[in-house]
Amino acid sequence: MLSHRTHEPRAQPEDCQTADSVIRSMYVQGTDPEVWLSAGRLLPEIRSELRRFPAEAAGPAGIDQLQCLAAAWASEEAGRYRALLDGADSTTRGVLVRRAALGCAPLALMSGAWLQWLTAPGHAEDPVALKGLALYAADVGVGHPRASRGDAYLELLRHLHLSENAVPAARLTRDQRIDDGAFYLPGVLLTMSRRPDDFLAEIFGADLCLRTVGLLPALTVVKELLPTVADWPGIDPATARQPAGLAGSEQCRRTIEALLSRADAGARRQVMLGFQWALNALRHWSDGLRTELDASRDPAYEMAELLRLRGREGAVYHRGLSLGGRSLSEWLRDSSAHPGPLLEVLAGSRLVKPGRAAASPLVNGLISERGPMFRVFAPEDLTVLARWIDSLPATGQPAADPTADGASQVTAVASAMYEMSPLLLADTDAGSTAPGRAPADLREAYHLLQTRTGTPALHRYALAYVDRWLARSGHGIDRDRQGLPTHWKPEGLQPWLAEQHDQHGHEFEESSASPGPSRQELITSTIQLAPLTLIDGAWLQGFTNYEHASSEIGFFLFETYWDELGNGEPQLNHPLIYREVLAEMGVDLPPTGSMEFARWPGFHDNSFELPVYWLCIGRFPQTFLPELLGLNLAMELSGVGGSYRQARIALKTYGFSTRFVDIHNTIDNIASGHSAWAADAVDTYLATLPASQGSGARAEVWKRIRVGYRSLNPPHGLGARRAARRARTMKERDHA
Ligand SMILES: [Fe+2]
Ligand SMILES: [Fe+2]
Repeated sequence: MLSHRTHEPRAQPEDCQTADSVIRSMYVQGTDPEVWLSAGRLLPEIRSELRRFPAEAAGPAGIDQLQCLAAAWASEEAGRYRALLDGADSTTRGVLVRRAALGCAPLALMSGAWLQWLTAPGHAEDPVALKGLALYAADVGVGHPRASRGDAYLELLRHLHLSENAVPAARLTRDQRIDDGAFYLPGVLLTMSRRPDDFLAEIFGADLCLRTVGLLPALTVVKELLPTVADWPGIDPATARQPAGLAGSEQCRRTIEALLSRADAGARRQVMLGFQWALNALRHWSDGLRTELDASRDPAYEMAELLRLRGREGAVYHRGLSLGGRSLSEWLRDSSAHPGPLLEVLAGSRLVKPGRAAASPLVNGLISERGPMFRVFAPEDLTVLARWIDSLPATGQPAADPTADGASQVTAVASAMYEMSPLLLADTDAGSTAPGRAPADLREAYHLLQTRTGTPALHRYALAYVDRWLARSGHGIDRDRQGLPTHWKPEGLQPWLAEQHDQHGHEFEESSASPGPSRQELITSTIQLAPLTLIDGAWLQGFTNYEHASSEIGFFLFETYWDELGNGEPQLNHPLIYREVLAEMGVDLPPTGSMEFARWPGFHDNSFELPVYWLCIGRFPQTFLPELLGLNLAMELSGVGGSYRQARIALKTYGFSTRFVDIHNTIDNIASGHSAWAADAVDTYLATLPASQGSGARAEVWKRIRVGYRSLNPPHGLGARRAARRARTMKERDHA
């Protein structure tokens, strides 16, 4: 299915060149933090993608052999890219660097992002998920904003002045300088990342392949020419992010070993399938990019590409200008499909002085400030024009027809190779998927929301639940003296935080005079809190999304989530620590993600109300960002200095471990712990918003943050419940 193209770049079907092509849309959906991909027809389509490349007759016997194969290919391919530099002058080297950097951007800007949904509330205690999270946390540069591998790559693009379409990464799909094929591997992987339970082993297999390959072969050229302008170890997914850390490739291999040690033989095959697919996809894409780079060493190639891209819009204007018996407008119109003839006629025309760009009317007259083509070309286009004219033989001989130049034919892995099914996209999939039914009760909702996925009916349920809960939380908020202050001040929340802390301390002192709970009361309250505590961090699950986890606001929240789950260490995992206390109390609960847990008779129904809210709102990190920031602050601050200390005394009285409350009283502290980060996240967000009135202004957002803060403990009265019902009815009416 390889398409064959001549010197003319990207001779692809018209519909494959639009930003709406399936391959690009798939990339966009994969980067959407709230995308909801129902199983439906999607899963078989992805499975068939994983088998797109024919299996080799004598396939590798195991993962070791696959890694050898990938490493050998990467080294040979890097050599082939380096050979492109032979004899290239500095201008040509600049062209190679620019094209290589752009071609690798879709993959490199999202490096590691396919691991973004490995953990879910229902298996936040799972050692394999925790190892995967540790690998991912290193990729996003946990603890620092803009420190992901993708951000390291963004810096490189900025240095090369190529970053205008790179933030958010989904905008890259609008960049027609990048071939559709560059979106294939990351697009499929990111889509798989939204169904982690279906493709866990394949995702790890593909990840291991990418880390074994390391720096993409095309980037070896860029690194060689620009060794100091980028964080190359950060860009290379094989490397460790910390000086003493484990190499990315080794960390991934160990995670896979942990997965395989408990899985059946099928999992090994799936890992290998993911690996082989990724390696084949890399090879095909890299072949195409290398061929494109090779062709671009000839200035006529870039010039032809420029005419193809600009031809259509230029054709609207240049009717009055005649070239070779036709209007320039006609030439330009044809050049969007076949730029070669225009290139030839331009080269022989009075507009071009071969070998002398500076003296050519095309460069110094037509496109000058007063010329008829002023601003038709961007500055980088002018560089292409000038480079092409300077390359023309100054003998007065017309240039050869580039389309007839068989010596530099370009065989690209073009989009035709990647004909993709529209069923891979969320919108088209929705029509073919049973909507499912809404959860019958709170307990069923709790169970169904333990994973990252679900049916459209569950999606609607989650949104409606959050709407109702927030309406309740906002009821009478202006009369509430307990929550956040009415106005946010530019000095931030630290002074208020300190006051709250003092108050918690004061309340603790006062309460120490009164008798604590009985042993049975303590056990009962510990049990009833289990549905909440065993999904610790669930309200922050949306901040594992790649671009959130490394943003100026989101990195605080991702790091908090990372701590709640124990930084990849089971012995530090908060849900597991809570289970230890329960065990001391003689309570052995089923796994959190199981239906048995949700139906466990020892729980009261209302013990699921707040947990279900966490599980619902955690799925919408964009839609409810202000509310989540408020909820997070309330959550992290709630026990520090006060109730954790009370709980400690009660636990100690009856000889139970105090580790769970001790760890929270320290890790959530207001100076440098989770409470401080929660306040910093709020302050950082508000500081970016306009102080003036209007939609999206600080005052409006602050109100939403206050509602979110109050949503940890919303009013229960009749008025509040009525407000919740009204809010939902109004929303439904709006949608009808
Ligand atoms: Fe926690
Ligand atoms: Fe915390």
